[in-house]
Amino acid sequence: MDCKKFTEEQIAHIKKTVGEAKAINALSGGVDSSLVTVLGHRALGGQLRTIFVDNALMREGEPERVVKVFAEMGIDVELVDAREEFLSALAGLTDPEKKRQAITDTFYSKVFSRLVRESNAKFLLHGTILTDIEETVAGIKRQHNILAQIGIDPKEAYGYSVIEPLKTLRKDDVREVTKFLKLPAEISQRIPFPGPALATRIVGEVTLNRLETVRTATAIVEEELADSGAFQYMAVLLNDRATGIRDNKREFGQIIVVRCIESVDARTATVTPLPWDKLNRISERITKIKGVNRCLYDLTPKPPATIEYV
Ligand code: XMP
Repeated sequence: MDCKKFTEEQIAHIKKTVGEAKAINALSGGVDSSLVTVLGHRALGGQLRTIFVDNALMREGEPERVVKVFAEMGIDVELVDAREEFLSALAGLTDPEKKRQAITDTFYSKVFSRLVRESNAKFLLHGTILTDIEETVAGIKRQHNILAQIGIDPKEAYGYSVIEPLKTLRKDDVREVTKFLKLPAEISQRIPFPGPALATRIVGEVTLNRLETVRTATAIVEEELADSGAFQYMAVLLNDRATGIRDNKREFGQIIVVRCIESVDARTATVTPLPWDKLNRISERITKIKGVNRCLYDLTPKPPATIEYV
């Protein structure tokens, strides 16, 4: 694709559409929202307010890291602490769909809609890509229309409009443009990480303690497998327990699953045949986490399994 032409056209389009008004966008640190943020700031500068919502479900140091990467590119990102709102929405929930719904509702209906209203923004920039639209049409994904998601009736609130600069691109095009724009590799080559974040890797209730456990395990897996070349790798906390022995005492402890897969587009996946030494090392480190006394490697391809657990 012609990255230069795409970039120039989108910047011109955003500039012309927004005029003198204010715009807002939410950044997750993923490649799509990162590219939208960069295009938006090139087009609008200070007229665009970019926010990063800390939902308590991020990986170790992630909110600060994203803010820093953008600061180094001269882009101000506002960190909004919404941890309490997400944790209380998730309290007591164990059903996967209810957990996902609670996260979506908290983000769109509560946190983001409040920020949009407070900021007087007339335009929302959103990182919808072509695949999102196709999957919405095919019924695989729920919604891509952000206005409906945040409970704004476009007729009633006619002043708001959504700009979706990436809606003609697929993931590989997005990565190509991010490389063309010289975004750091940390962004353009980031492994996929789901919107509902670590909540997709906690089977059962999401609590502060359980988040802490899966966050520590995730940091170990990501560090150990950074050079694996795999498509995606993760740690998952199960809702079951198993007996183990620690300090000569029996302990009914937690179980972490390690998953590492090869894929092109995440629609299907095969398991990476990791070296035994590597697996052993990961297991040793993970079972040092307080309360965790088992570590398993998931051998299931997709299908029949999905990549995430929730
Ligand atoms: P599954 O678990 O459905 O995941 O096999 C396929 C790919 O999509 C990612 N994933 C998500 N990404 N929001 C996202 O932005 C989500 O709700 C979501 N759920 C799964 C997953 O990490 C994998 O790469």
